[in-house]
Amino acid sequence: MPLMFDHVYYTYDASSPLPSKAIEDIHFTLNEPFFCGIIGQTGSGKSTLVQQINALLRPTQGKVIVGEFVVDSSKKKMKEIKSLRKYAGLVFQFAEYQLFEETVLKDVSFGPKNFKENEEVAVEKAKKALKKVGIPEEYFSKSPFELSGGEKRRVAIAGLLAMEPQILILDEPTAGLDPKGAQEILALFYDLYQNGTSILLITHDMNVVLKYCTSVMVLHQGKLLGMYSPLDVFYQKELLSEAEIDAPDLICLVEQMEKKGFSLNRQNIRDIESFVAEIKKMKGEVK
Ligand SMILES: Nc1ncnc2c1ncn2[C@@H]1O[C@H](COP(=O)(O)OP(=O)(O)OP(=O)(O)O)[C@@H](O)[C@H]1O
Ligand SMILES: [Mg+2]
Repeated sequence: MPLMFDHVYYTYDASSPLPSKAIEDIHFTLNEPFFCGIIGQTGSGKSTLVQQINALLRPTQGKVIVGEFVVDSSKKKMKEIKSLRKYAGLVFQFAEYQLFEETVLKDVSFGPKNFKENEEVAVEKAKKALKKVGIPEEYFSKSPFELSGGEKRRVAIAGLLAMEPQILILDEPTAGLDPKGAQEILALFYDLYQNGTSILLITHDMNVVLKYCTSVMVLHQGKLLGMYSPLDVFYQKELLSEAEIDAPDLICLVEQMEKKGFSLNRQNIRDIESFVAEIKKMKGEVK
């Protein structure tokens, strides 16, 4: 099923004397399953864009088609909002706002229970999700508010996973995690993608986009500059300069080597391991 934005605009405080245009004329189609990155400077409209998908914000103009659901500018409460939010789950940029129950386990099992799973099944799903995000059992009975920032984020992610969404929307999910924790969580998202879940990932980490994403949207001042392959986007100097984005160091290294006459297959280079594999191939050719 596709995720479609049909000329979507969103203006904060639209009817006030000081309206603030956040996104303008966003138009794209993504066919599931996707692992799509969203990049752009601070304030470029990334969080505003993704909040249209699960109707946390409703477009000021245009519509979003999410599987069988349509989110438009109508002021009427959507009847299917609960099902929509199960289909497309969003982990907020500030994940702590998402936690509210007395204990970690209650918090994570809230979603499945809300979808009429019986207590036992809901708790099983919650435990499985908590295990996936690396929260140990001794934390299950703690209050989510006693946890560190990184732990809260993991619990918020588990809360979404327990709902088994078709599209998982992640707004800077590794903020507050240490490098090892961030790698583990990203590997988990990639595994979910390989098993058919679509991932929409907002990130300021361009290495992550290069390594994991199958496509990437570039936002600038509320406008979508385009949807690209991560294997191409970071070589497009003018685009990056317009969007005020820096390419990952690895891309700069590849470019430097090419300038020195090395011929590398850019399409194979996504991270250090694949870069080293390319170098080894080259050495093989030299021999
Ligand atoms: N609640 C709000 N009220 C008014 N304006 C807002 C509100 N939230 C965001 N904006 C404005 O909308 C624009 C887009 O903000 P948004 O939070 O979507 O950007 P972002 O790309 O997610 O930024 P960041 O990388 O800092 O998270 C910004 O100009 C911002 O100031
Ligand atoms: Mg944001």
